[in-house]
Amino acid sequence: MEPVKIGLLGLGTVGGGTVTVLTGNAEEIARRAGREIRIAHAAAREYDPSRIQGLERIDTISDDAFAVVDDPEIDIVIELIGGYSPARELVLKAIANGKHVVTANKALIALHGNEIFAAAQAKGVTVAFEAAVAGGVPIIKALREGLAANHVEWIAGIINGTGNFILTEMRDKGRAFAEVLAEAQQLGYAEADPSFDVEGTDAAHKLTILGSLAFGIPLQFDKTFTEGISRIEPQDVAYAAELGYRIKHLGIARRAAAGIELRVHPTLIPHRRLIANVDGVMNAVLVKCDAVGPTLYYGAGAGALPTASAVVADVVDITRALTTDPTNRVPHLAFQPDELSDTPVLPMDAIETAYYLRLLALDRPGVMAGIAGILGEEGISIEAIKQKEPGAGDTHVPLIMLTHRIKEGDMNRAIARIEALEAVQGAVVRIRMESLEG
Ligand code: HSE
Repeated sequence: MEPVKIGLLGLGTVGGGTVTVLTGNAEEIARRAGREIRIAHAAAREYDPSRIQGLERIDTISDDAFAVVDDPEIDIVIELIGGYSPARELVLKAIANGKHVVTANKALIALHGNEIFAAAQAKGVTVAFEAAVAGGVPIIKALREGLAANHVEWIAGIINGTGNFILTEMRDKGRAFAEVLAEAQQLGYAEADPSFDVEGTDAAHKLTILGSLAFGIPLQFDKTFTEGISRIEPQDVAYAAELGYRIKHLGIARRAAAGIELRVHPTLIPHRRLIANVDGVMNAVLVKCDAVGPTLYYGAGAGALPTASAVVADVVDITRALTTDPTNRVPHLAFQPDELSDTPVLPMDAIETAYYLRLLALDRPGVMAGIAGILGEEGISIEAIKQKEPGAGDTHVPLIMLTHRIKEGDMNRAIARIEALEAVQGAVVRIRMESLEG
């Protein structure tokens, strides 16, 4: 089957990430989508080729975005230019030309989404925008599909990574606002116009979209109340902490008796709430529904690869719709049935993890050395050791050890040898340990 042909507009941070993901994961993406996906034509005024992996696999690169949307070869246009214009004109032209569109442009959708969706509906094409809200977090799919049974009561989201990073640094390190903002800009998280981050415009774009998806109302950016974080002072952050709260910049959409609340503003929330502990540039969206109750979606809300992850997922969705059996559009096991692989599931002996070990050992010189010796011989490295005080009259003391990662089979051998020692009483308690670092 012919590959699906992509026209890519923009080779900046997200555009570059999209090239990297589409080309780097091409084989696995094709196994999921049911068809090869090829970037046939890309357009960018300026880009840095040294920062984009996979660029050589694009068929044509030019500086004319309108030539891409007019290219008859193209099936799906990915708009990653950002801003209102010419993004709006390009997207409308692509739709008029019968092409499907994927965009990460939250400003465009929040302000011109009603017009764009009407045009797409009339033309029978899809406009997908998962990357527009919370970057790589699939919150749009969750709201539109996973939560479709529910009456959504409210949504509260940390949906601007730059603002969250600034508030986190102010709280943890007492740093000044301007200094942290400069760092966020350097890291590439901030919007081209940083006032969009600190005055809440970016979060309001995203909340406008979430509000429409949750409550079935047209996009109404102009009715979304917007207050930024620029007037939050370090002393407010400290006083809130003393009272057991954290200040987070939240987008809140709530169904009230008289109508829908759409508001973005700094908010005190109890520090023990999970969402209060979402720090740095991370995003999180808490959705409260009537049937399922609260559900929380967390992840990277900005950055090249996370945002590309959402862009490419939309491309896969559209490719499946264009390609596969319509009644089984999404394969039951995520990959196309004839693309399942025979990669083996590992036996437990072969898995690798770290361990917490607890045992009772005779309180006598040389015992600890004997145990550590066995671990060493089996190639197991000890991260920490603790010997508890013996109880009155006890001959044996509890020994607690944490180890680095090692194969379960090696650990089984070590445990069997330790349990066979005369100085060790009873079985060794083993609890597996995972750091789950992000
Ligand atoms: N400036 C945005 C943020 C980028 O900081 O979250 C992603 O929309």
